Amino acid sequence: MTEALLRIENVSVRFGGLVALDSVTLEVAPGSIQAVIGPNGAGKSTLLNVITGLYTASGGSILFRGERIDGRTPHAITRRGIARTFQNTELFGEMTALENVMISLDRFYAYGGVTAAWQGRHYRQIETSARDEARELLALVGLAGDENEAAATLPFGKQRRLEIARALATRPGLLLLDEPAAGLRAAEIDALNRILLDLRAQRQISILVIDHVMPLVMAISDRIAVLNFGRKIAEGTPDAVRRSPDVIAAYLGEKAAHAVGS
Ligand SMILES: Nc1ncnc2c1ncn2[C@@H]1O[C@H](COP(=O)(O)OP(=O)(O)OP(=O)(O)O)[C@@H](O)[C@H]1O
Ligand SMILES: [Mg+2]
Repeated sequence: MTEALLRIENVSVRFGGLVALDSVTLEVAPGSIQAVIGPNGAGKSTLLNVITGLYTASGGSILFRGERIDGRTPHAITRRGIARTFQNTELFGEMTALENVMISLDRFYAYGGVTAAWQGRHYRQIETSARDEARELLALVGLAGDENEAAATLPFGKQRRLEIARALATRPGLLLLDEPAAGLRAAEIDALNRILLDLRAQRQISILVIDHVMPLVMAISDRIAVLNFGRKIAEGTPDAVRRSPDVIAAYLGEKAAHAVGS
């Protein structure tokens, strides 16, 4: 059996008396696109926050490439190769698309061991290579023609993709996306799905994508896990999950048929 790229084992997260994640076990296989869906408040964002070290697990363990990452800082976890986007876009609005990506590259270079020597004579070289790399990442997400646009002036769908380019600037092996399709029109979702499939094919990036409803992730996911009230209530292929009575029941009260795509 191939070792999981990411393994979350019996992870719980508590906020006072509230159990946001209740002993959740989940794996992301290398090269796969794994989705997590669930109704509002199910614990989806909490899951990404605990993986990336923003929240502390009250129990369980998280392994990335076979090594424990729970308890490490967000910074250390990024360095190990996990990048993410947030549910609400967090771009620097007045900076250009290119600058937004370059800033994340800069951080990478800075903590990647670039010493003062580099910053003097070789600074221009570094800047040029950062610019080239940022351009390449923008092209990957279909923003080649938008590099000089201020992030805030880009249409929402493009802002979402810019966030992905910025996440890629840290050269992740695993990309975590928190509701990347929220608020997008159907054509934009198709474009996003193609980008995610290309990322996996061309850059061997594995993806853990969260969504509120299922049809959005069905088209691209190998497996879907379903959270409800902090517990994993189902997992399997998109087709199997869609037919699960537990999943349909979890979405009752919020337009079940639409949510699970039947
Ligand atoms: N920092 C926090 N402090 C206290 N409670 C929190 C915190 N973060 C999340 N929660 C609670 O944990 C539960 C799970 O929240 P979470 O944001 O993970 O849900 P979600 O599945 O992402 O929902 P949505 O679809 O609305 O984004 C909710 O009851 C939420 O109020
Ligand atoms: Mg959320």
